[in-house]
Amino acid sequence: MELFSEERSAEVVAASFVDTPDPRLNQLMTALTRHLHAFVKEVELTEDEWAFAVDYLTRTGQLCDDVRQEFILLSDVLGVSMLVETINHRTGGASTESTVLGPFHMVQSPPRALGDTIALDGKGEPCLVSGQVTGPDGEPLPGALVDVWQANEEGFYDVQQPGIQPENNLRALFTADEQGRFWFRSIVPRYYPIPDDGPVGQLLAATARHAYRPAHLHFIVTAPGYRPVTTHVFVADSPYLDSDAVFGVKESLVRDVPEVDDPARAAEVGLPNPFRTLTFDLTLRRLE
Ligand code: BEZ
Ligand code: FE
Repeated sequence: MELFSEERSAEVVAASFVDTPDPRLNQLMTALTRHLHAFVKEVELTEDEWAFAVDYLTRTGQLCDDVRQEFILLSDVLGVSMLVETINHRTGGASTESTVLGPFHMVQSPPRALGDTIALDGKGEPCLVSGQVTGPDGEPLPGALVDVWQANEEGFYDVQQPGIQPENNLRALFTADEQGRFWFRSIVPRYYPIPDDGPVGQLLAATARHAYRPAHLHFIVTAPGYRPVTTHVFVADSPYLDSDAVFGVKESLVRDVPEVDDPARAAEVGLPNPFRTLTFDLTLRRLE
């Protein structure tokens, strides 16, 4: 084996992986070694910086538990989550674009009937949310499952405010009708900061970045025979659309949320007048 040297460090370490039986693991470790060594050489990393990085990653791991995943948050603010998401869900313009899942999805969203309200405490600016789920040729997808969750008018998810918001506030699982259509009553969500009381927050503060995400509703839409889509719809006039802390915004996902001032229509949909409306149609690709 060639002995270690500053000049040939990457090649020497990469060679140690040569017998890796799994070719993909071999490729990953070789490329990781090349990029890591190039980084250390480019910045001439000091020993103090290396020790700080080890301590930082240690603290990041120590903050992780069943409900807090600081490593994913770190990946989010470095844009890695969005890059992995985007590479693995290329749409070629043929389906709704995806974006990050985020930490506030519940494995079991509460099933609700079309037209139900998901704003269980009635607080916030009323909004009718509707859309249609179709396939790539515009074919409606009857019975598509539409899983939604959002923050309240103060920018908090129910799980962040136990005892303040009702359990399962502003989340639901809907089954689309025969035309793939869904509709429900909600409120306009507010922009909010990602959890910033840990190492990720320290990184944002040290680099003069803010922690905010623009106002959005989360969707996971599934239908048999089609690729699921995990995405958001963003509120067009929200602050932070051009500086999302986790880089989740895609232009195709931004929608106006116009006000409707029509007492008859308000009575028909069961909302106070006036109310806002948000229309978000989703297209799924067929499974290959
Ligand atoms: C969210 O939209 O819920 C979210 C996404 C990434 C990090 C934190 C929150
Ligand atoms: Fe969110």
